[in-house]
Amino acid sequence: MQEKIITLLRSSSDFLSGEVLSRQLGISRAAVWKNISELRRQGYHIEAMTRRGYRLLLIPERLFPREIQFQLSTQIFGRRVIYFETLESTMREAFRLASDGAVEGTLVVAEHQSKGKGRLGRDWVSPKGQGIYMSLVLRPDMGPNDAAKITLLTAVSLCEAVNASAKVKATIKWPNDVLLNGKKIAGILTEMSADMDRVHFLVVGIGLNVNTPLRQLPSQAASLRTESGNLYRRMDILKAVLKQFENDYKTAQANGFKDVLCRWRKLSVTLGQKIQFENAGVWEQGEAVDIDDNGALIIKTMSGKKIKKISGDVIAAGDRPLSQSGSKH
Ligand code: BTN
Repeated sequence: MQEKIITLLRSSSDFLSGEVLSRQLGISRAAVWKNISELRRQGYHIEAMTRRGYRLLLIPERLFPREIQFQLSTQIFGRRVIYFETLESTMREAFRLASDGAVEGTLVVAEHQSKGKGRLGRDWVSPKGQGIYMSLVLRPDMGPNDAAKITLLTAVSLCEAVNASAKVKATIKWPNDVLLNGKKIAGILTEMSADMDRVHFLVVGIGLNVNTPLRQLPSQAASLRTESGNLYRRMDILKAVLKQFENDYKTAQANGFKDVLCRWRKLSVTLGQKIQFENAGVWEQGEAVDIDDNGALIIKTMSGKKIKKISGDVIAAGDRPLSQSGSKH
């Protein structure tokens, strides 16, 4: 019922009388009032005026499913949205839903995570209402060895969508950290259920620090706001990410990952850099020269030998190791 009321109020720039609402919705005026009160409690500013009725003034800065889905132009991503005020981790919930058969594109979002998970066993600090914390269920028709490419694709889609919607120039650090002014503002975590030759499903988690102030971030991490000075509507960025991600995902499924890898190279700050990396438990130095067709980093070692790194992290020569910001807490 609240969905219908919001739709009606949204469609009218003027007041809508309680009588019109009650007639159109087939409920009593008292029931209209009760629903309006509940919507106000959720943060909608709805003006009520005697003899004129109700008028929608402001939509809350929340990632409510009805707001995500309003004018969302995707076909799969975000067609089902599960929303939480607070949750341990959207990864756990999305994985559970996917195991129970949730359709591709099912999106889990939370305003706050109490145990946000990062890569390599790290935490993802997720303060309430400041960032985008989301996990998406994917069911690509591919083998488990190809799944890493989906993470690279996500990084490209995320980076480009953020650049377009927030008007910034974010870059990618191998494998899939999104940086602004060299500081980490977003990360991607992919979890998979698969057998030897087929992926059952992937859960792709995205954490993006949007309006997070410095004091709520781990040292060295940043947000769109700390770097640009602007406040953003998270909803606009989230929708842009869903749209771009779905387009890229569909295109890659149809035509392969060549185009995505090309765009990844253009956005990369890692390629051409002198880096430190861990090789069989030992830290070495080298130069990041390229990524291969599977997204593995090709490194030229000091001895001139080329090696491939499939997973883990690399750090710029001279830097200290990374967390949400890219260093270990
Ligand atoms: C990284 O370490 O760079 C990956 C961070 C991924 C964080 C996101 S926030 C939404 C989703 N839920 C989680 O618990 N983690 C991912």
